[in-house]
Amino acid sequence: MKIELKDKKVFFEDRGLKKEIHPFWLRERVNSDNFVDKRTQQRLFDPTELKENIKIDNLNLSKDFLEVKFNDGTSAKLPVQSIFKEFSNINEVKFINKIEWDSSLKNFNHFEFQDNFFEQKEMYKALINFYQYGFVIFKNVPTKNNFIVNFANSIGSIRRTNFGEFFDVKSKPNPNDLAYTSLPLAPHTDNPYRNPVPCIQILHCIENDVSGGLSTLVDGYTVTQQLKKDFPDFYQILSEIKVRFQFIDQSVVLEDWAEMIQLDEKENFKQVRFSPRLDFVPLIDKKRLDLYYSARKKISEFYNSSKFRIEFKLLPGDLLMMDNHRLLHGRTSYDANEGNRFLQGCYIDYDSTEGKLKHLKRKFKL
Ligand SMILES: [Fe+2]
Repeated sequence: MKIELKDKKVFFEDRGLKKEIHPFWLRERVNSDNFVDKRTQQRLFDPTELKENIKIDNLNLSKDFLEVKFNDGTSAKLPVQSIFKEFSNINEVKFINKIEWDSSLKNFNHFEFQDNFFEQKEMYKALINFYQYGFVIFKNVPTKNNFIVNFANSIGSIRRTNFGEFFDVKSKPNPNDLAYTSLPLAPHTDNPYRNPVPCIQILHCIENDVSGGLSTLVDGYTVTQQLKKDFPDFYQILSEIKVRFQFIDQSVVLEDWAEMIQLDEKENFKQVRFSPRLDFVPLIDKKRLDLYYSARKKISEFYNSSKFRIEFKLLPGDLLMMDNHRLLHGRTSYDANEGNRFLQGCYIDYDSTEGKLKHLKRKFKL
């Protein structure tokens, strides 16, 4: 990457491709004290109020800085590296490659909770791990006084729902969701009926005296990649048809329409939704429905196959943080007569983890 000047114009060159940088783009970046608040890095002016025909009066390029004087009397001294960074579109999170995994995944990373954990390099490593695998487990997280709230709010902010700020997962009488029974829970994603769907779920084990009740995880990314390879027609229809997901209880009716496999604008993996107790397929053409039902059956087989599933027991103090847009979770059944099984759960959004990760990266100059 390099910057060149010619006839009061600035050019940016990358791998043989050369383009002119618009003078207005540079003018928006005027960064002296009168124009940018140094503490927040926020603009003190509104660029939509500037004249559109901004021109460059004078230019100077040194090794580290580009200096520009504009015809409205302002000037900018821009670090060359900051311009490179904008053109390379660096997004710390997007460039963390997802690692596909199945039941052969062993000895997955654990991170030991410690004082001031959220400001340490270890937290950065844990977040990288989270983005690679879609989950991470923290050990020995304090279990008193709903510490999960503290934990979630130390990364970002809790995403409150109609289940409250956080929820207790234990068997209880007259439950409004099967999660609050001792029945097995097949792999599912949480709350597909919400818009937006909560991004990250945190589950904190407070007590676990039972021999069953193992936690299960399946990587929706691995499964959908496999489906794409083995059954491309199924993959395609599941990523095209929007189904209705619905949750109803006495005080609320929640519903949203979405694909079971949602792709981004480049047709890459974005999100999976799977909760066969809550989905309603639209009334489409019979032939398409034939294909859709076969596809749903197949992906369900994959999600429920032991080939893709890991199982482990959460111990008191263990805190599981998982990507609810990527992973499916569940549990095996347990016998409530053996003792207590008590987890606490809550949700946070991606901007929390992304913001934390970028902050720690900046702090430790990683
Ligand atoms: Fe769940």
